[in-house]
Amino acid sequence: MSHPDIVIVGSGLFGLTVAERCAEELGLRVLVLERRHHLGGNAYSERDPETGVEVHKYGAHLFHTSNERVWEYANRFTAFTDYRHKVFGKYQGQVYSLPLNLALINQFFGRSHTPDEARALIAEQASEFDTASATNLEEKAISLIGRPLYEAFIKGYTAKQWQTDPTELSADIITRLPVRYTFQNGWFSDTHEGLPVDGYTAWLTRMADHPNIEVRLETDFFDVAENYKGKVPIVYTGPVDEYFGSSEGRLSWRTVDLEESVVETDDFQGTGVVNYNDQDVPYTRIIEFKHFHPEREKTHLPGKSVIVHEYSRFAEEGDEPYYPVNTAEDRAKLLKYRELAQAEPMVLFGGRLGTYQYLDMHMAIGAALSMFDNKLKPHFTEGAELK
Ligand code: FDA
Repeated sequence: MSHPDIVIVGSGLFGLTVAERCAEELGLRVLVLERRHHLGGNAYSERDPETGVEVHKYGAHLFHTSNERVWEYANRFTAFTDYRHKVFGKYQGQVYSLPLNLALINQFFGRSHTPDEARALIAEQASEFDTASATNLEEKAISLIGRPLYEAFIKGYTAKQWQTDPTELSADIITRLPVRYTFQNGWFSDTHEGLPVDGYTAWLTRMADHPNIEVRLETDFFDVAENYKGKVPIVYTGPVDEYFGSSEGRLSWRTVDLEESVVETDDFQGTGVVNYNDQDVPYTRIIEFKHFHPEREKTHLPGKSVIVHEYSRFAEEGDEPYYPVNTAEDRAKLLKYRELAQAEPMVLFGGRLGTYQYLDMHMAIGAALSMFDNKLKPHFTEGAELK
């Protein structure tokens, strides 16, 4: 495509949603530039050639939303299975059902509690610190759920996630630690939940399957920027600091090392996700992908399974940026980048990297639909200024 009407940098869910809307609703010629060898951003997945199991290449992706518009939109490109996500956590040789709930409380304290008894127990244990005056993450967590549950289910896991002792972490990192005083152990509480029936890549490929959309893979925007900057509207979903040459300093991220292996068993752990809460176990979680699609059992090679050990650490240059660290210093830099972004002519910044925000998939789609409605459509149909 030599003369696109709009250029989208990044083919993740944010970029593809904007691309699809611009092509389908406005009839624009859309060029999507993607520096990886595949489209789809972090939601990308592939079938493991040996076992036939679909592997989420950038960490487990479970779709859930209570946003009706996003649900309706996603369903235009894929149907969803009725998968309901559950997470289990290992601690000192026992397996508990997460999130913190009545089954876990009963098992952990070794006796049955009614919801009111459990509430009273946790309130009493949580009284050790006052939430408002907690000076670090440990004190805040104890003020919310008490020391015993904190030490078992938060302390070791958080220390591994952040490579930092929780007494050294800011209390702001957590706002709530919800405890369910019921046996409900579904991980999400959204209206809609499920996994794309024929996989993420089929879904994402259908979004881009439009005669007006060209996705150019293995193309870094910065190598071709001069062809488009100032000449055509650009929606940029890469890292905001990178766009400005890190002029205000680099924003900090955590990354996850994903160690994938094929194991010689039909079923390694009996469920999709098991968290490892003990601090002396180096990984945070093990994912076993075949459990996300029990309906595909016949397509999986018997006697084998694909698992991934996850290790969390601070991202260095060249690592995949996954979760914003969001220190006070990062927030100060971000404000400066936002000012620069605001002043950048004909460029809109979006998505998780472009806004330095953790966004679930449904949030990325919702934000892209809003950008289309509020900025791109008025620009292309009424000549409104792009900013
Ligand atoms: P995304 O990162 O997907 O896409 C950005 C794209 O831009 C990338 O493909 C990148 O290569 C490209 N790019 C960047 N710079 C470029 C340049 N200069 N030139 C060309 N291309 C460039 N959500 C959820 O709902 N349920 C879940 O279970 C999970 N699980 C999960 C696990 C982990 C480990 C992470 C990190 C994230 C999740 N998510 C999630 C969140 C989900 O991944 C997120 O919502 C989407 O990736 C957001 O899509 P974006 O398009 O914003 O970014």
